Amino acid sequence: MAEPKVVVLPGDGIGPEVVEQAVRVLIAVAPDVAVEERLIGGAALDAVGHPLPQETLDACLRCNAVLLGAVGGPKWDCIQPVELRPEVGGLLALRKALRLNANLRPVRTFPALAAASPLKAENALVDLVVVRELTGGIYFGRPRERREGGRVAVDTCLYSVDEVEAVAHVAFRLASQRRRRVTSVDKANVLETSRLWRETVERVSSAYPEIELEHMLVDNCAMQLVRNPRRFDVILTENLFGDVLSDEAAVLTGSLGMLPSASLRTGQGSSPFGLYEPAHGSAPDIAGTGRANPLATVLSVAMLLRTSLARPEAADRVERAVERVLDAGVRTADLAEAGQAWVGTREMGDALLADLKLGR
Ligand code: IPM
Ligand code: MG
Repeated sequence: MAEPKVVVLPGDGIGPEVVEQAVRVLIAVAPDVAVEERLIGGAALDAVGHPLPQETLDACLRCNAVLLGAVGGPKWDCIQPVELRPEVGGLLALRKALRLNANLRPVRTFPALAAASPLKAENALVDLVVVRELTGGIYFGRPRERREGGRVAVDTCLYSVDEVEAVAHVAFRLASQRRRRVTSVDKANVLETSRLWRETVERVSSAYPEIELEHMLVDNCAMQLVRNPRRFDVILTENLFGDVLSDEAAVLTGSLGMLPSASLRTGQGSSPFGLYEPAHGSAPDIAGTGRANPLATVLSVAMLLRTSLARPEAADRVERAVERVLDAGVRTADLAEAGQAWVGTREMGDALLADLKLGR
């Protein structure tokens, strides 16, 4: 790949602070990568009047991967029309325009942080991935409207076989590199879209005889995640269920500030285009204080290097640096136990860079 290009979208809240450190790490392990910064979210709305400027979209369409911080915050929560809100007009519109149909959220406990998990010790070492369909379902189905003078509201959940197949293949392929188990989550006892989902996943599974497939209803899955999260390897689900379950799964490690995510455009070979972002949001309450944990964004850089740039060695270096820094006891405020000393966002970046400079 000749000089890969990464577009960086810092966005709102703590987004710019965490992205700054992640970009330092990216440049340290992949100095030939060209990095271009663009506006998104509330920051774009304030600067140029739209949460997803055409110029930003054009840059994303011309690059190999996108690194995003976070969008949204109280300042923009009441903006009308809703298409101008950072989440809807910025992030959701970008996912749709870039056709990012598969969202991967790995949830893995770092042994050094296991004590932070809300679960009993024997359950705390979670290692699962949520694969969430990202550009269909109730998030994007039409009509979406008010009727009868505003007293009735309609959202539409719609799925096609093609949409389900595309994301199901991602889950099965991923499981084949892991513990070979896919749990497909739906509400097939009630919803027609879920019955289509289940049939389609079942059919796709016949191409992967080595993978064990189980179906689970979403309410049961929510319970099993808390009761026995170690039974899960890859959880495959639709857009709205995936939104809810991935937050639930994320908190099991006790360290939301550690979780990366990838949103991929499937069906284009082994190094798909993708957008990478931390699973936490814009955290407006600590924005600007220099306290945010940049590690979820740094680990998103590792996913970006491995998946869209096909640089597994560079990705490994980043992940090992994170592990070593944690093992050495370096903590941001969100990771520190009571009474434990902690460092700021930039100092965490410094610690990673110092570790990487040792050439490991
Ligand atoms: C996520 C977020 C978004 C979603 C919001 C910000 C629109 O919660 O990425 O999970 O619901 O998809
Ligand atoms: Mg969410």
